[in-house]
Amino acid sequence: MPANLVVGAQWGDEGKAKVIDYLCKEIDIIVRYQGGANAGHTVVVDGKKYVFHLIPSGVIYPSTKCIIGNGVVLDPESFLQECEQVEKEGFAIYEKLLISDACHLILPFHKIIDAEKEKNCKPEEKLGTTKRGIGICYSDKMNRISLRAGEILEDSLLQKRLHSIVDRKNEELQKLYGVETLAYEDIYQKLKQFREKVGHLITNTSYYLNKELQAGKKVLLEGAQGTGLDIDFGTYPYVTSSNPTTGGALTGSGIAFHHMQDVYGISKAYATRVGEGPFPTEIFGEEAENLRKVGFEFGATTGRPRRCGWFDVEMIKHAIRVNGLTALVLTKIDVLSQYEKIPVAVSYEKNGKKLDYFPSYGLDRVKPIYEFLPGWQEDIVSVKQWQNLPQKCRDYIRYIEKQINIPIRIISTGPDRTDTIIMD
Ligand code: GDP
Ligand code: IMO
Ligand code: MG
Repeated sequence: MPANLVVGAQWGDEGKAKVIDYLCKEIDIIVRYQGGANAGHTVVVDGKKYVFHLIPSGVIYPSTKCIIGNGVVLDPESFLQECEQVEKEGFAIYEKLLISDACHLILPFHKIIDAEKEKNCKPEEKLGTTKRGIGICYSDKMNRISLRAGEILEDSLLQKRLHSIVDRKNEELQKLYGVETLAYEDIYQKLKQFREKVGHLITNTSYYLNKELQAGKKVLLEGAQGTGLDIDFGTYPYVTSSNPTTGGALTGSGIAFHHMQDVYGISKAYATRVGEGPFPTEIFGEEAENLRKVGFEFGATTGRPRRCGWFDVEMIKHAIRVNGLTALVLTKIDVLSQYEKIPVAVSYEKNGKKLDYFPSYGLDRVKPIYEFLPGWQEDIVSVKQWQNLPQKCRDYIRYIEKQINIPIRIISTGPDRTDTIIMD
């Protein structure tokens, strides 16, 4: 059976988890394949809100297996806290979870260095990270000095590896950042606790996933962040340190590409971004405050206000190209109900010339060219049928579909699982 993928088409927080939760009703296995606890994924079911950071958003369904793939960077401490929280909420997480033995572990050093780097850099070098140690752990992974989940299963191996990591990282803390060193024993004890709690769930998940796919199971891959934050295809250096895009779903799960079928790109009907970096359609002042307030645009992980702007066709076309999107899901359309006219950036200009792609650099110097579409000015929250949307709202959606040239297959009209329109 196939594996489908959900990937953010913008700068994260597009409403991926809401869509994943919706799609999960027909799914046997859900897989997180990159990122870490920098993600904040919100699901609302019958008015109750759940926010997941590392645990896949399909956890709510009793029979869906949850996998943390090899491409994830996992913070054992915050992961156990999240598992406890999820258990309290009534989900039998320890009975349905598997963790890749090849995923890399975020240690306290990574979080301290992430925060110190942000604190001590020049203002123009600040990235606005979530301070969850993500980029620092991925650097250690690439540098071939990081600790993988499988290595903690054998105590002698863990101790040997950890001694060498602690020595190296403490030297870095002292010499580069001038902060206090960390005690080996504290970190070792925390990793031991992690092993006692979930050690039996650490396994070769690539082997497991390919076997289950061959046996006919349906798999959904859950992207965190989004295309604009991709280390290769995003607005470098204002990106996260992984590949949320389709290629990352394969390398971060170990699923063979021939299993892949649908790739759903998720986009808001407008745009937001948290942290630093270029954002061509960004709006400011009262206009932004208003959109932020109506869309409740505050980060699910850090609580930071999200920067707001308009739908950007070139950005979505870029996401379609690099991810091979087979469909777009348009979320938060209800947030636009207030406007008389809705701006949509249909193209870019740079130095007075049309630019028909999303550039790898210099995005801060492009000028978006807008079309203004008539608004519907009618409440559409929770509308569940296409024919019950106002005509001008349907025209807006059809206009975007024509611009991007792939089908819009799902429309989201509110945060709840049921606030969803499925297109024929
Ligand atoms: P993710 O990181 O892509 O999963 O998205 P987040 O959970 O960080 O942010 C999306 C926010 O929008 C959450 O608060 C969702 O509950 C909310 N949301 C999702 N879809 C809709 C929608 O169609 N309308 C409204 N009003 N809110 C939505
Ligand atoms: P979800 O999965 C929005 C942003 C941070 C920062 C940049 C780098 O909820 O969509 P990092 O801590 O990853 O090194 O920070 O990436 N960022 C996100 N923005 N949604 C996310 O995840 C994000 N995860 C990281 O704000 O600009
Ligand atoms: Mg989020």
